[in-house]
Amino acid sequence: METLKNTFIKQFGQRGELVSFYAPGRVNLIGEHTDYNGGHVFPCALSVGTYAVARKRQDKLLRLYSMNFEDRGVIEADLRGLNFKEEDDWANYPKGVIAAIQQSFQVLPNGLDIVFYGNIPNGAGLSSSASIELVTGVIVNELFQLQINRVDLVKLAQQAENNFVGVNCGIMDQFAIGMGKKDHAILLNCETLDYHYTPIHLNTEKLIIANTNKRRGLADSKYNERRNQCEEALVQLQKKLNITSLGDLTVKEFEKHKYLINDEIVKKRAKHAVYENERTVRAVEMLNNGDLNGFGELMNQSHKSLRDDYEVTGKELDALVQAAWKEGAMGARMTGAGFGGCTINLVKEDLVEDFIQNVGEHYRKATNLTTDFYVVDIGDGAKVVTEVEI
Ligand code: GLA
Repeated sequence: METLKNTFIKQFGQRGELVSFYAPGRVNLIGEHTDYNGGHVFPCALSVGTYAVARKRQDKLLRLYSMNFEDRGVIEADLRGLNFKEEDDWANYPKGVIAAIQQSFQVLPNGLDIVFYGNIPNGAGLSSSASIELVTGVIVNELFQLQINRVDLVKLAQQAENNFVGVNCGIMDQFAIGMGKKDHAILLNCETLDYHYTPIHLNTEKLIIANTNKRRGLADSKYNERRNQCEEALVQLQKKLNITSLGDLTVKEFEKHKYLINDEIVKKRAKHAVYENERTVRAVEMLNNGDLNGFGELMNQSHKSLRDDYEVTGKELDALVQAAWKEGAMGARMTGAGFGGCTINLVKEDLVEDFIQNVGEHYRKATNLTTDFYVVDIGDGAKVVTEVEI
């Protein structure tokens, strides 16, 4: 925070009050590619994220600087005409959130200077983009006293990503980051936005994130393709069924009516969405009953379904999960959109050291890539950072 403030003063000068903010990254424990299908997800906020220091300006300028992209310098935009610009790169996320707030809520009277610093590994599927969106939302809400409630802010951040940046994501990432709570995961019904905090008290186990270190090339277009396939399945099912999303279907109902879907690939995509939704609800029940083996087994089934039916894993994620299974993980699966990024693993605490050593080794042999491991520490959602916390 000290370095962030010093960088701010160096870039934008010393005067006026500086306020500090934070938004975490997220990891999803189970419930993948269900959010935009009206199903359930079960993510939690991490204790790594995006920090920001901000100050209002007298004019209508927005001046943004990231310590993670210093070579790009200060990126400037006028509040009165915020547009997506390829060359603005990372700054399109904060610009998009401010544009969404101005469009749906209120035109801002003044511009802002903001410096960001993030410690979420980049491109790892831990939602560094939703993190910068939410930190920006909280900055604007706080500095202009807009009183936007948190769920609305979450929706505005998703809107920014959908309409301004052009990635057709669901609501999971923004919700987990906006609504996260220390030591809890969130069971979220993405259709109704009903949610429940579930305490994650692991006595003899740890959750471990492993990064494939494989960049998610082409991920956005394949992501949108999966969404379209699910929408196609829904339209075909709606010929006979009165449903508004795939999340409305039980596995039993799906099995009975899947003949309505005339394309085998589309059928597989829908199958994943329906089974994964039911699996997620069951997994959380098991966790609440202290059945960690059961929870882990459903994580494994989730990965197999994402590999075989949804086909969003790929060589690296499969190799990393395979290695985790071999090394005794109680549960292991890809997490996030897929096509690279991270896995999430449930591992007995006394095995953690060997697990990290051996999984890293197997993975290197299989892919020639190295892995980074992080023991999950579940943190709070986006917030103002007070001096005490600094
Ligand atoms: C990405 C999207 C989310 C969600 C996941 C898959 O992280 O941003 O909305 O769809 O993929 O579960």
